[in-house]
This record gives sequence, structure tokens and C-alpha cells, in this order.
Amino acid sequence: MSDIAGATRALRAERVSLAFGALQVLFGVDVEFPPGRITGLIGPNGAGKSSLFNCLTGLYRPQTGKITFGGARLDGLPPAARAGHGLARSFQHVALCSEMTVAENVMFGLTRHGKAGWASAFLPLPAGARERADARARAIAALELLAIAALADKRVGELPPGPLRLVELARAIVGEPRVLLLDEPAAGLNSLETRDLLAALRRIARPELVMVVVEHDMDLIMQLCDSIYVLNFGKVIALGTPDEIRRDPEVARVYLGADDA
Ligand SMILES: Nc1ncnc2c1ncn2[C@@H]1O[C@H](COP(=O)(O)OP(=O)(O)O)[C@@H](O)[C@H]1O
Ligand SMILES: [Mg+2]
Repeated sequence: MSDIAGATRALRAERVSLAFGALQVLFGVDVEFPPGRITGLIGPNGAGKSSLFNCLTGLYRPQTGKITFGGARLDGLPPAARAGHGLARSFQHVALCSEMTVAENVMFGLTRHGKAGWASAFLPLPAGARERADARARAIAALELLAIAALADKRVGELPPGPLRLVELARAIVGEPRVLLLDEPAAGLNSLETRDLLAALRRIARPELVMVVVEHDMDLIMQLCDSIYVLNFGKVIALGTPDEIRRDPEVARVYLGADDA
């Protein structure tokens, strides 16, 4: 597994359990996401992938367990404070402000709340002209990295699904997060758009960045990830390299039995 230095900057969940009333969603989940690696998180619909992300970012509060980043306890902190620790995410359903331009949406990623998600749409952008110019420059740089700088002044409402996903990604990375959690970034994309997304995700990866991707597109996951966790009914059933996961009989059984895999 990871070396000591890597391990200390990892994002970890230990024995995390989550229930909604009588519905137990996560059962003592242990995961470790090291920096410098792209980790996949897969599993059938309803396995608890988005719920685990929500526990990591603070939207959901697990009943038991511990969440740490680089050794610092995160559980108990609200989402905005976790964003302050460098956590950024994208949502399973696109959460952008359609009346605003691409650049403006990306600039929201620089606000403390913006990193945590949609609530940023209700917060003011930087007021001073200089601050605003600086924020715009950073937004353009993020868009350039994703090869969509040409869209900077388009209204988000005019964009097709592929570019929309890339705008979400730009908003998530503009604040230079230390942890990037992506929930089904390829949902709704055609194969060409998915290919562009794969290239963009590879360009984002950096040695110090913890990157976790939840995705149903197996080709994307297998091509992108260094290692993969498999979640089923709220439990981790496998961890391995793409090749190991491809050959795992338990994983094959879960996916053959699932109707949405
Ligand atoms: N806020 C919530 N309230 C009640 N049940 C929820 C809530 N969020 C998720 N669940 C339930 O938790 C289970 C796991 O859902 P989810 O984490 O979205 O799975 P996945 O992302 O793997 O498809 C599902 O049964 C879902 O209905
Ligand atoms: Mg989900």
C-alpha cells in the first residue's frame, strides 16, 4: 500500500456506519485514498457510494466511525470547514447556475462554500475589481487545463452535457483542492465526451492530490484508476488494481446479479 509520507496525507474513513432510520446504508466501511493516485469507487446502484462521499464531505453524519485527512479529524466539521481542509467535489447531478456564465460558475469554486457545492450560488462573488479579475484569471486557467477556455463567456444554460461536466470539474479544481471527489462525472455523456473527460481527468492528477472517482462506466474506471474499491450493500467487498478487480469472482457475481451494472 502507500508509503508513510503518502499515508499521512491520505483521506481515510475508518469503520464508518450510516443509517437513515431503519435503513442501514454503510456498515463499518474502511477506505484509504492516498495522494498521487486515482482511486475508483464502484458498485451497483444503491451500494452507498454517494452516501460515503457525503460522509467524507460532511453532508451526511455517520453514526459511528472516524474520518481523517492527513491525520486531522474531519468528522464533526461542517462541509465548509472540510472545504477549508482542501476537500472539493462534484455532484452526481450537475449543480451549476444556468443563468450565469461558465467563468462565473467556476469562480464560485473559489469561495469557501463554493468548494462544498451548490450553496455557493447564493453567495456573493468577490466584490473588488482586482479580486474579481484575479478570480477570473484563475477560472480561465482551470478552463484552459480542461481545454474549454473558449466557453468562458457562454451561459451555462446553453451548453450540452459534455462541456457541462467539464465546467463542474473546473469549478471543483479552481481552488486547487488537495482532495477531489467526483461522483459519476461521465453520467449522461456520449463516448466522445467521455474520451475528453478521461483526458481531462488525467491532466488534473498531481502527486499531492487525492482523487476519487465514482463511476458506472467501467471502461473509464479501468483506464483511469490506479486502484479500485468495490462497494456492495454498504460494505467494501474488494480492493485491487483494475486487473485484480476485473478477475475478482465476487465482483463478477455482484455485477452479473445487478441489473444496472
Ligand atoms: N438522504 C437520504 N435519506 C434516506 N435514504 C438515503 C439518503 N441518501 C441515500 N439514501 C439511501 O442509501 C442507499 C445508498 O444510496 P447511495 O449512497 O445514493 O448509493 P449509490 O450512490 O451507490 O447509488 C440507498 O438505499 C438510498 O436510498
Ligand atoms: Mg450515487
